[in-house]
Amino acid sequence: MSKELSSEQNASVGMTVGMIEVLILQPFNYAKNMTQQQRPISLNPAVMYRGVASNCINMGSCTMLQFVVGGELKNLAAGGDPNKILSLPEEMACGVVAGSTSALVGSPLELVMIQQQRKGGNAGVRIKDILQKPVNVGRGFAGMAVREALWTCGYLSIPPVVRRTLMTNYPETFDTNQKARVPAALLGGLFACYLTQPFDTIKTCMQGDIEREVYGTFTETAKKINADSGFTGFYRGATFRYGRMVCAVFIMDLMREQIGRLMYPQAFENEKK
Ligand SMILES: *[C@@H]1O[C@H](CO)[C@@H](O)[C@H](O)[C@H]1NC(C)=O
Ligand SMILES: *[C@@H]1O[C@H](CO)[C@@H](O)[C@H](O)[C@H]1NC(C)=O
Repeated sequence: MSKELSSEQNASVGMTVGMIEVLILQPFNYAKNMTQQQRPISLNPAVMYRGVASNCINMGSCTMLQFVVGGELKNLAAGGDPNKILSLPEEMACGVVAGSTSALVGSPLELVMIQQQRKGGNAGVRIKDILQKPVNVGRGFAGMAVREALWTCGYLSIPPVVRRTLMTNYPETFDTNQKARVPAALLGGLFACYLTQPFDTIKTCMQGDIEREVYGTFTETAKKINADSGFTGFYRGATFRYGRMVCAVFIMDLMREQIGRLMYPQAFENEKK
């Protein structure tokens, strides 16, 4: 993405990119959630796309925050020099902070969505239900903060570094940015998926069960999953999630540039090609 976009522009690009990603990948996401909670999967689109609006708002808001905070931090790390290339650790640090910040907004939104998915009813009903015990609002926050931090690294920090490395070291094979996008997505997705999966499973189980009938606190939930299924229990739904993540990283990495270009062509005018 252009270094010339303002924070407001980064925000609207982030919101748009996040929403497009959801609309495309909702069925993967649905299947993953059901598998993690060991519930049956329906192929009915009306069921698969249940909660898609709140999912768009959730992903849109998180991505917006990640683009804005990530953008500002990258700027800061580069000391305002638009030509400075950030190292992998610098890129990762920006991703971690941007991602965990976004969980402040994303976690409560997602809680409403998962409850809606499980119980039906509109958002208003589910919010009232959750607020009967205000402490429920923070349910799943720690898991989500870690997950978003690693996910943001996976799509925001790793792909640019992988693309640059491939293009520098294998210039004949990877002569354009476009060709390096697939390996970048495979790696970014792998990183984001496998490191975050246990946290994501714990969080999904907790949020699906605010009555705490089966899953209690974060630690209790981890113990319960471990007792039920052992270590592999944390990797329930990982195949769906890896598939989704590679597609998601690819889409996000590509759209981050293309959507910015479409929405704000002026910002890219003085750029060659
Ligand atoms: C399923 O839960 C995840 C978090 O575990 C969430 O990001 C996602 O939006 C949910 N999927 C759907 C289809 O609602
Ligand atoms: C917007 O995002 C881009 C890409 O992350 C970044 O280089 C740029 O500095 C950001 N703009 C601001 C004002 O933070």
